[in-house]
Amino acid sequence: CERQDGRSFRQRLLVVANRLPVSAVRRGEDSWSLEISAGGLVTALLGVKEFETRWIGWAGVNVPDEIGQKALTKALAEKWCIPVFLDEEIVHQYYNGYCNNILWPLFHYLGLPQEDRLATTRSFQSQFAAYKKANQMFADVVNMHYEEGDVVWCHDYHLMYLPECLKNHNNNMKVGWFLHTPFPSSEIHRTLPSRSELLRSVLAADLVGFHTYDYARHFVSACTRILGIEGTPEGVEDQGRLTRVAAFPIGIDSLRFQNALLVPQVQEHIKELKERFSGRKVMLGVDRLDMIKGIPQKILAFEKFLEENPNWRDKVVLLQIAVPTRTDVPEYQKLTSQVHEIVGRINGRFGSLTAVPIHHLDRSLDFHALCALYAVTDVALVTSLRDGMNLVSYEFVACQEAKKGVLILSEFAGAAQSLGAGAILVNPWNITEVAASIAQALNMSAEEREKRHQHNFHHVTKHTAQEWAEMFVSELNDTVVEAQLRTSK
Ligand code: ADP
Ligand code: G6P
Repeated sequence: CERQDGRSFRQRLLVVANRLPVSAVRRGEDSWSLEISAGGLVTALLGVKEFETRWIGWAGVNVPDEIGQKALTKALAEKWCIPVFLDEEIVHQYYNGYCNNILWPLFHYLGLPQEDRLATTRSFQSQFAAYKKANQMFADVVNMHYEEGDVVWCHDYHLMYLPECLKNHNNNMKVGWFLHTPFPSSEIHRTLPSRSELLRSVLAADLVGFHTYDYARHFVSACTRILGIEGTPEGVEDQGRLTRVAAFPIGIDSLRFQNALLVPQVQEHIKELKERFSGRKVMLGVDRLDMIKGIPQKILAFEKFLEENPNWRDKVVLLQIAVPTRTDVPEYQKLTSQVHEIVGRINGRFGSLTAVPIHHLDRSLDFHALCALYAVTDVALVTSLRDGMNLVSYEFVACQEAKKGVLILSEFAGAAQSLGAGAILVNPWNITEVAASIAQALNMSAEEREKRHQHNFHHVTKHTAQEWAEMFVSELNDTVVEAQLRTSK
């Protein structure tokens, strides 16, 4: 940004997201340790460097006492983070309930949890009330820290009610909202009892962003069909006020991954992994243990591949690293047992006394261990049933300059639009097709792998998280200036 005197300055960005980039663990009455949070939103935003950024969000923990709150606020301030304290009841109703049991499955086309459908319908009103209350609590913290000229960037499905809360308080605030999940077809969004309220609130923002053009189109069409507001080439216009709607595909900080591979500790780890799996091709899955990631489907496809290709049985291993997530939501608890059951069965069926075909870890790996794993992988399997973008696929590509492994990628991940030409695209629901694509990947010629990798590597290294954030913020600044010009005419 430039001042009137021509000197440049870094614009202050208030990033508001339900989850802070660090989660807090209590060590004593007034002592806390902070750990990096998992998830694509955090990964992407940590790659954004060129703004003076303040984070506002929840530290993932209930802190009922004043001493604890004060100490945590202080510890977080060192990381430029400002906490929003949510009590247990709000977390239960807003985060576990409305966000993760209703909006998340719905936006990923999975509908409401089958057995809980009636219970969910009954508790809907109280959960939506908690959702609005939580959003207002985020707004109160933003209002407390806002300085004139700040850009306020709200993130994700947790905070769809936030733009309206902010604008009601201060109509001059520059407010952007970005969705990290798919926005579903308007036919799906129509089933939400709070469909209109959420759309109207999002429209209070100046700029609304999505990962892909399709998600943006679905949003505009939901506004037309549900609110009766017409879309324009720029976005959505209601009674003379324009909300700009556009696609801003996210990226990663690819250099961070490339540089990590040069660290001696990572090289040592790569060497160990190569020795450990020598003589076997390594296939890798890295996901939060979430129903949208298609982990059971992926493992069943691997079983089919082993069934149909006996010559590969002792020459390939699947490493599935699945960090547990949202463990208070029953649907996620069911998924964990389901995955364990399938892995156990397949290992019993195809394993021997000395080796098993699937190594499944229910945990998070540290950054260096993850990079080493990406680097030794021959085939990465990303089989999300739906996924806003999927940054694991980008991270894998960034670590593959030496090996040029193959990416098998769900056509229902946003990343299919950017890495589609380099990956083998699959329908994750079609286990036979995924099994065949595993065989194709393992048998692919070196020339073909090189060509596909170069396509993907070019994209991942060119379209970074930094570029994504700069484009969004610059568009938001321009949108606000244009709106001011329009009203002053
Ligand atoms: P989502 O945002 O739905 O979790 P993404 O693929 O976009 O999906 O982002 C996931 C992020 O979380 C990536 O940065 C990935 O490295 C990280 N991650 C996922 N699973 C693990 C794991 N088991 N260990 C460490 N990091 C993980
Ligand atoms: C996805 C969502 C993020 C969320 C992340 C981890 O990436 O888009 O908003 O932070 O998953 O989920 P959690 O519920 O642990 O924050």
